[in-house]
Amino acid sequence: MTDDGTRDPAERIEVLRRQIAHHDHRYHVLDAPEIADDAYDALVRELRALEDKHPELVSEDSPTQRVGGAPLAALETTTHVAPMLSLDSSAAAADFRQFEARVRRVLGEDAVRYSLEPKLDGLSIELVYDDGRLARAVTRGDGVRGEVVTANVRTIAAVPRQLVETECRAPRLLAVRGEVFLPLEGFDDVNEALLAAGKTPFANPRNAAAGTVRQLDPALAASRPLALYAYDLLEHDGFERDAEAAGALFASHGEVLDAFRAWGLPVNPEHAWAEDVDGALAYFEALAQRRDALPYEIDGLVVKLDDLRLRRSLGATAHHPRWAYALKFPPRKEVSQVLRIVVSVGRTGAVTPVALLRPVSLGGVTVSRANLHNREDVERKDIREGDTVRVERAGDVIPQVVERVDSPDARSDPFRMPERCPSCGAALEPRGPYTVCPNAFECPAQLTGRIVHFASRRGLDIDGLGERTARQLVDRGLVRHLADLFELDEGTLAELDGFAEVSARKLVEAIARGRRTELPQLLYGLGIPEVGAAMARTLAQRFGTLEALRAADREALEVVDGVGPVMAAAIHGFLHEPRNAAVLDALDRYVETEPIEVVEEARQPLAGATVVFTGALQRFTREEAQALVQRLGGKAAGSVSKRTTLLVAGQDAGSKLRKAEALGTEVLDEEGFLKWLEAQGVDTGPLTSGSA
Ligand code: IVH
Repeated sequence: MTDDGTRDPAERIEVLRRQIAHHDHRYHVLDAPEIADDAYDALVRELRALEDKHPELVSEDSPTQRVGGAPLAALETTTHVAPMLSLDSSAAAADFRQFEARVRRVLGEDAVRYSLEPKLDGLSIELVYDDGRLARAVTRGDGVRGEVVTANVRTIAAVPRQLVETECRAPRLLAVRGEVFLPLEGFDDVNEALLAAGKTPFANPRNAAAGTVRQLDPALAASRPLALYAYDLLEHDGFERDAEAAGALFASHGEVLDAFRAWGLPVNPEHAWAEDVDGALAYFEALAQRRDALPYEIDGLVVKLDDLRLRRSLGATAHHPRWAYALKFPPRKEVSQVLRIVVSVGRTGAVTPVALLRPVSLGGVTVSRANLHNREDVERKDIREGDTVRVERAGDVIPQVVERVDSPDARSDPFRMPERCPSCGAALEPRGPYTVCPNAFECPAQLTGRIVHFASRRGLDIDGLGERTARQLVDRGLVRHLADLFELDEGTLAELDGFAEVSARKLVEAIARGRRTELPQLLYGLGIPEVGAAMARTLAQRFGTLEALRAADREALEVVDGVGPVMAAAIHGFLHEPRNAAVLDALDRYVETEPIEVVEEARQPLAGATVVFTGALQRFTREEAQALVQRLGGKAAGSVSKRTTLLVAGQDAGSKLRKAEALGTEVLDEEGFLKWLEAQGVDTGPLTSGSA
């Protein structure tokens, strides 16, 4: 007997797989999840338990296999279905104008339409679908041959293993090009975990994405939240992309992107159109402004001709197509000189070496400090004062020293960690490659770090409360713990360096706004050991309120997905340390969070059912009916197939009705549909009240 009472495990497994695929699509493609992460996890757990019991029912495309199969011995290589070319590019608008003028001259057109897509800074992947099933994923490699990374790419929830069946059926063979990338939030989480494990973090999200896709253990890939956007049709149905026949299916890139979306392949929502060169350049400027606000790294804009017939007449060089161009942003990698190496004490007490640099501009921001991570890292990279180094900045992440590129003939002495904390004077302690100040509660630098973290974007998001302000608040004894922030008034703040009446008022207002927040933000902001943004979300969903989390014992924490005994002990220890507990009590008086609904299991009476609507409906619109079916866990499809459970036929139903009859699919009218819903235990009140 399975969890839902059905006798046949194979049937239940099918239902669960379909539900999970449905929620993956809602989450990754439509950006409109219907259930909480917890409820989703419960579905995956149930499926995994059933498959464990019935290994003969495990199939390669089951979502459980996304958590990774056995590690591979080595990556194989294979030839691409179609060559994966590079892009012609420049950071200069004038170069782009030249390219664009040539396009129009060669085509003899006055104006052509362009597709505009952010240039994602990840790695390019070829996805090959065979009869709608993901058969293979291959890295770009040298453009002709790449590495087969199917097992790792299968772990990416945004990559459908099976294309959605739509009116525009996926061709028998479909090769799609897209970019695999690691969103900034995921990048921070991955690096946080690496640091916690005493390992060196990735220098940027692109390295993290490439390193994850091109390694041998799918389970590791599954643990990192990679994403993908599809952006190019390489080939379909066995036709060469450049062959005239390919034009029969799609006339424009816009149609290709529509088909991608319909098949369940995610397309970048930032995608836009331009009718001429000025339109493209205006969008490029606008995108550059928004670059830091995007949740992933981009390094420019890709401009592509929309019309596929015109593309074919322009052709390609061996290196790049003549119909596309990459407009690049200023780079975020630079070379500079290390003037001094100092140490900085963070909120957790970690003492980090920091390079003071000759100021350089990294993508428009002047940088004069960069992170050197830890004692061992400085030793391994052998970086000393006076050396010339490469510095890199990713998103709003602190710039880092990546490597030494040159050093003077007479080098200075190797860097040595100080023996005492530069902030509070406590004797420093080594911990693996790290060095820590053990004086958690009395060290001013640690308190400063805790305030900055509390006020950060992923915490209470208090604008204007950065490092410099926090340090003054601590040094002047105005803030002794986090709750003191809520007692600050304009008069006090106006006395701080760099503050005037207006800025003081703005900060008081921002702090007041921070009092109403969400539980995940509050949990993140508290700086509980091991709790990054992702874990904060998980804990919030599992416990619903801060009180419930504080009341949880270690056992209750241990059973939360992703929390082991070590982490449970760290979280429990933090929450119950008397001085922390006092701060939490105090915060309780100021900060208000909406309780979060703790969802254990979703109610999905239509799970496994596929319903198609056709003809003119009277009681509700087709969109309303489809949304209802989806909310209840069913699938609302656009066309009738063998898998259709039910066709709901309104007036003047045509070909779909005939097809359903031919296939022997159950057909109901609207009344019949409502009765059928009731029979599945659905309250149809909202649909029959007349307002629906
Ligand atoms: S189109 C032949 N679109 O940029 C044209 N490429 O320097 C196919 N890239 O290796 C590429 N975002 O990995 C295209 N929206 C986008 C892109 C994109 C990132 C990468 C791609 C390629 C590199 C070219």
